[in-house]
Amino acid sequence: MSIVGIDYTKCTNCGLCVRVCPRRYSEDKEQEKIIFKDAFGSCSLCGHCIAICPQEAILYENLGDDPYTFDGIANLPNYIPYEKMYNFLRANRSIRNYKQKKVPEDILQKVIRAMECAPTAANLRGEKFVILSDPEQLKALSDAIIEELLKNPSTRSHFAESFEIRKKIYNYPLYYDAPHIIIVYSKGKTTFEHFNIGNIITYGQLAAQVLGLGTCWNGWTQIAFEFNPKLTKLAGIRGRSWGVMTIGYPDIKYLRCPPRSRKKVKGLI
Ligand SMILES: Cc1cc2nc3c(=O)[nH]c(=O)nc-3n(C[C@H](O)[C@H](O)[C@H](O)COP(=O)(O)O)c2cc1C
Repeated sequence: MSIVGIDYTKCTNCGLCVRVCPRRYSEDKEQEKIIFKDAFGSCSLCGHCIAICPQEAILYENLGDDPYTFDGIANLPNYIPYEKMYNFLRANRSIRNYKQKKVPEDILQKVIRAMECAPTAANLRGEKFVILSDPEQLKALSDAIIEELLKNPSTRSHFAESFEIRKKIYNYPLYYDAPHIIIVYSKGKTTFEHFNIGNIITYGQLAAQVLGLGTCWNGWTQIAFEFNPKLTKLAGIRGRSWGVMTIGYPDIKYLRCPPRSRKKVKGLI
């Protein structure tokens, strides 16, 4: 995985790569050409040089899929106007009522494709993904996590009543009988890993919504995994940071967006 250099049969010396990455691209005035140099192998492979080059002159190896483009990429404010974006974001609801219908694999793939686009610190992209769809496994995980959360006095006082009520409604209450859960996990435990996973889950939630799916973040699983990391075995995963969301077809339609608090922002009138 690396940027290899510049294809000089294509490069026109426009210097856009130098503007987006002055650390590794520079203009050699004597030779009148742009030079790529990654002396310490510290390039984060963000690919901005590939994304900006009008001549497609950047050479690279094994970065993942091919560069991707579409009509309108250079004019994103026209692609999705603010009002549409705001309405879409505002209408995103946590879904706790699902149809008992599996989501086809190609649709789940689309959600995962969107999650892969989420930004991660230093472009490290070390997170792993798993989808669990077996109702027995989801029930076993739900039961074990509820048991774990009820052992701890603080989580017991917060959640015991809610679990009691939901046990009467759902077969596996922790996941609202959703047909699938998606787990994103990472071997590190820094703030950045948590931010990365948060971004990835959020991208997945928004992609799911546009595909007619509902999701709900499941912080309970994350708390229980932190209390007792051995529980991760029930999900067939490892790691030290986790993000979990349920996903399926919503069996409910919301007609308006609930009120949300307005933030006082220092620096804005
Ligand atoms: C980090 C995080 C953890 C959450 N954990 C849970 C959870 O364990 N169970 C649950 O039912 N909802 C969970 N939620 C959903 C929130 O309760 C929900 O976003 C909030 O009530 C607002 O509702 P809305 O998403 O429909 O706007 C979580 C949300 C976030 C962002």
